[in-house]
Amino acid sequence: MSGHGTPIPMTSRPCGPLKGSAHVPGDKSISHRSLILGALSVGTTRVTGLLEGDDVLDTARAMRAFGATVTDHGDGNWSVQGVGVGGFAEPENVIDCGNSGTGVRLIMGAMATSPITATFTGDASLNGRPMGRVTDPLALFGARATGRAGGRLPMTIEGARDPLPVHYTVPVPSAQVKSAVLLAALNAPGETVVIEKEATRDHTERMLAGFGAEIEVEDTDEGRVITLQGQPELTAQDIVVPRDPSSAAFPVCAALIVPGSDVLVPGIGLNPTRAGLFTTLREMGADLTYENERIEGGEPVADLRARYSPDMQGIAVPPDRAASMIDEYPVLSVVASFATGVTDMQGVKELRVKESDRIDAMAQGLRACGVDVAEGDDWWQVTGLGAGNVPGGATVASRLDHRIAMAFMVMGMAAQKPVSVDDGRPITTSFPIFEPLMAELGAQLVRSNA
Ligand code: S3P
Repeated sequence: MSGHGTPIPMTSRPCGPLKGSAHVPGDKSISHRSLILGALSVGTTRVTGLLEGDDVLDTARAMRAFGATVTDHGDGNWSVQGVGVGGFAEPENVIDCGNSGTGVRLIMGAMATSPITATFTGDASLNGRPMGRVTDPLALFGARATGRAGGRLPMTIEGARDPLPVHYTVPVPSAQVKSAVLLAALNAPGETVVIEKEATRDHTERMLAGFGAEIEVEDTDEGRVITLQGQPELTAQDIVVPRDPSSAAFPVCAALIVPGSDVLVPGIGLNPTRAGLFTTLREMGADLTYENERIEGGEPVADLRARYSPDMQGIAVPPDRAASMIDEYPVLSVVASFATGVTDMQGVKELRVKESDRIDAMAQGLRACGVDVAEGDDWWQVTGLGAGNVPGGATVASRLDHRIAMAFMVMGMAAQKPVSVDDGRPITTSFPIFEPLMAELGAQLVRSNA
C-alpha cells in the first residue's frame, strides 16, 4: 500500500569510503512466489528470509483475502497454509497491490482459472501500468477482464468457470506475463505451453517444479518452451529465500564509485537470468569479485566483493542481456556517469513501463546532475564524466519508483554536491532497510532536502 501519505524528501551527501558487510534482504521475486505458490498448495509452507517490503506485504494480504492463512512469525519467518490449486475463495474486498506489478500480475494469473471474481487496484504508479499484456493471455483460458481504458487498473477479473489450457507465445520479454500464464495454467485441465523468445527470470518454473508440478523447460530455436500439466496437487515446501541481487546492486555500485570503498555483500543469488548487471560491471573494469561461490537451494550463490574502481570504461551492453538486468539499468546509469566514455544501452523498451518510465526518469535526473544522456524509444546512452567528476547538486523526482530513488541516493554518495529525491518512501517497497544498511557502511543519507 505504498504511495499513500506524505512524501519524504531524502538527501545523499558525498561521503567517505564505504566499508563493511551489507546483508541485503530477501529476493522480491522469490518472496512473492513463495506466498502465492504456498497459497496454492496443500499443507503449510514455511518461508525463511521473506522480503518484508511493502510489495510483498501487499501480496501476503491478498493471499489472505483469497482464503490462505498467512502468518508472520517474526524475523522474516512466515508460514502459508494453502487452499490447494483451484481452492481460492472470492475476496470480499478490492485487492490493493500497492506499487507492485509483480504482485498484481501474478495474482491475476493465479485466480483467473477459478470461478470467482476479484477487483484489483494499486497506487498511482501501478494504476498507470499496462495490464493488457496479462489479461490478453488470461482471456484465452476463458477469464474476463474489465478495467479502465488502455487496460489499466482498477480492474475486475471474472475467473473462467471451465478453463481451457492454452498455447501462448509471450510477445514481450516479461517474467510477470510468463508467470501469470503458468499460474493460470495450474487450474486448467491438460497441457499448457508457454514460449518465450528471450529467457526471463525463471523462478516460477523452478519453484513450480519444487512444489511438485509437472513442468518441462526446453531451449529450442523458437525460444524457451515451457510445458505445464494442469491441475497438479502442489505440496507445501520449506523455502529459504536467497538475498536479492537487485538490492545487492545498490551497495555494490556505491562501493565502485565512492573513493576508498571495500564492501562485501554476502549470499547473493547469481542465477544467470538475474546476474546481468554484475557481468556488465566487470566488463566495464569494475573491481567486483565473486567469493565463496556455492550452490544453495539449487541456485548459484556467491559473496560479492566490490572495491572502489576509478578506471571504469563505458561499454555497449548487449541487448540480449537486458532481461537479466532489467531492474538494474537505473543504477548502472549512475555507475556509467562515473566511468569514462559512453555506456550504450539498447533493446530496453520495457524500462518505459516499469514503476515509472525509467529511461525518462533517469535521463532527466542525470541531466539535472550534470550528466549527458541521449535516448530513443528503446535505447539510451550515458556519457561518463570519469571518477570524481559528476557535479550532482539536484533534486530529482522519484516518481513512486524505488529504484529511481535508490539510484540517485547512490549518485549523491560520490557526486561533488549532494543529490536529493523529492520522495524516498517508495524505497520500502523492495529494500526497507536501505537507509540503515547504507548508513552502517558509511553513507550519509538524511530525510530532508539538501
Ligand atoms: C519480475 C519481473 C520483471 C521485473 C520485476 C520483477 C518478476 O518485470 O522488472 O521487478 O518477479 O517476475 P517484467 O516481467 O515486467 O519484466
